[in-house]
Amino acid sequence: MSAPRVLVVDAERPDAAVIADAARVLHAGGLVAFPTETVYGLGGLALEASSIRRIYVAKGRPGTHPLIAHVLGEEDAKRVAKTWPPLASALAKAFWPGPLTLVLPKNDAVPVELTGGGGSVGIRAPMHPVARALLAATNAPIAAPSANAFQEVSPTRAAHVVKSLGGAVDLVLDGGACVHGIESTVVELGADGTLRVLRPGAIPIAALQAFGPVIYETLAPATDVTRASPGQDARHYAPKATLVVTARDAMPSATREGKRVGAIYLGNAGEIDAIVIRVLPADPKGYAALLFATLHDLDDAGCDVVLVEAPPDDAAWLAVRDRLARASH
Ligand code: TXA
Ligand code: MG
Repeated sequence: MSAPRVLVVDAERPDAAVIADAARVLHAGGLVAFPTETVYGLGGLALEASSIRRIYVAKGRPGTHPLIAHVLGEEDAKRVAKTWPPLASALAKAFWPGPLTLVLPKNDAVPVELTGGGGSVGIRAPMHPVARALLAATNAPIAAPSANAFQEVSPTRAAHVVKSLGGAVDLVLDGGACVHGIESTVVELGADGTLRVLRPGAIPIAALQAFGPVIYETLAPATDVTRASPGQDARHYAPKATLVVTARDAMPSATREGKRVGAIYLGNAGEIDAIVIRVLPADPKGYAALLFATLHDLDDAGCDVVLVEAPPDDAAWLAVRDRLARASH
């Protein structure tokens, strides 16, 4: 696998010359991976069908899985949305820039390649200064799925992007680690004022409840998920190792004879015979920030099996439990 060009950028004050370079790559039809506050995105021009097709090829992702259009804010969102209801405006004012993706009917400027053939478009205004600088310099919406090959673990560091996509991406902007480490919450706005959560993520569902009735169905049967949000397959975010999520007490007995076992504990380490033992913070934000990077590390360490202490069963851990469930499916 060939290597992409990588340019280091300051996460707070990105160099204008580097950003201009990246914007030129995008306008020439190329792909630029860049940091967001959630995970690294694989960017291409959202309104150019040829750029979008390149994104699907680079990821090996089925063309029916829609991509998110990244914009600077509300004004820009109207370049891709057909309607901008008061509810969209209220959510944008509360959470943008930030990790909330709004799904609304698309307008005619949006190629069906972006939406996986459907009539709606996912829109989000990222907060990360590098993403914002790139959007400003490009002066166009940027399509960006997570910058990993289809079904692999999402990237929270530039090195993860290089490992997963190699030369399939033209340029990687290395802005360090992503703060949230887990993807945006994806919400479909119903004509009836409901908020349907298609993917739990960095914005907790509790924060959405002030804006209307929230509908969320946990890891529904594959057919339902496919209908609501193609791309939310049961198997997703999967490391090469087999992931087993289990109660702390059951972890030692779940180790496998002759296998290279890794273990992820919550809060503090337990007694276990494993080649790598990692401890993640016992709070959901801290845990989410490090989860994907830890899965990448355990893969790199050559683990065959990774045993994960099951996180608590409450709402604050929903997005983490969703990712673990899909990664272990
Ligand atoms: O945090 C994020 O959202 C990251 C960063 C790069 O912004 N992006 C990301 O994109 O996670 P991706 O493509 O890996 O995941 C997008 C999710 C998928 O589950 C997809 O099905 C859903 O959003 N989605 C996007 N547009 C949609 C639409 N029009 N209708 C239903 N679901 C949509
Ligand atoms: Mg993804």
